[in-house]
Amino acid sequence: MVLDAIRARRTVRDFTEAPVRDSTLELLIEAATWAPNHRSTEPWRFIVLGKDGTMRNKVAQIVHDWTYENVKNPNPERRTSSAKSAQKEILDAPAFMYVYSMQGRNDEVTEENYAATSCAIQNLMLAAHSLGVGVGWSTGKPCLADVGTAIGAEPDWDIVGALYIGYPDDQQAKQPEVKRASVKDVTIWS
Ligand SMILES: Cc1cc2nc3c(=O)[nH]c(=O)nc-3n(C[C@H](O)[C@H](O)[C@H](O)COP(=O)(O)O)c2cc1C
Repeated sequence: MVLDAIRARRTVRDFTEAPVRDSTLELLIEAATWAPNHRSTEPWRFIVLGKDGTMRNKVAQIVHDWTYENVKNPNPERRTSSAKSAQKEILDAPAFMYVYSMQGRNDEVTEENYAATSCAIQNLMLAAHSLGVGVGWSTGKPCLADVGTAIGAEPDWDIVGALYIGYPDDQQAKQPEVKRASVKDVTIWS
């Protein structure tokens, strides 16, 4: 049931080494493309960086270097370890992709496109969950490092996230229970 999937889906960043097939990724991307999108703009673009591929390595290096330069902690050891861990997470993810939203003809459409692409990512995550695949959506280091042109994104595309994808490992099951505010705390009935 969709409701069960919505409630049970969690962010996943700890994966087994099991590979995620390209056919599975295609299924997830296809699910993403069924997201609502105003004016039929279908504004989403997906860039999949294959495991052990040249581009994955290149991006991991860019993120490593960005992290080293931008991490707040001035301690050199800390900077080195943060940079290495960011690089390793990208290299180790069984699947890894970027999701971009295309600009519209004006700010209003661009904003709608971004909203639609966010819906697409949620579709992708729910579809993944239904197949036992976990996804971690990040707008952190892999996006801040500005890899766009290196991976073939157009300069005017907006980055919506980097997705780490794989089969959840045992660590994931040990995560603390996630809670949400009650409906009454987030709703105004008038
Ligand atoms: C737009 C967006 C950006 C996110 N960026 C990050 C991120 O940079 N790093 C991270 O660890 N999690 C990121 N997350 C995941 C959230 O932290 C996560 O959804 C939240 O903790 C709730 O957990 P849940 O997804 O298991 O319900 C992001 C989620 C969204 C929707």
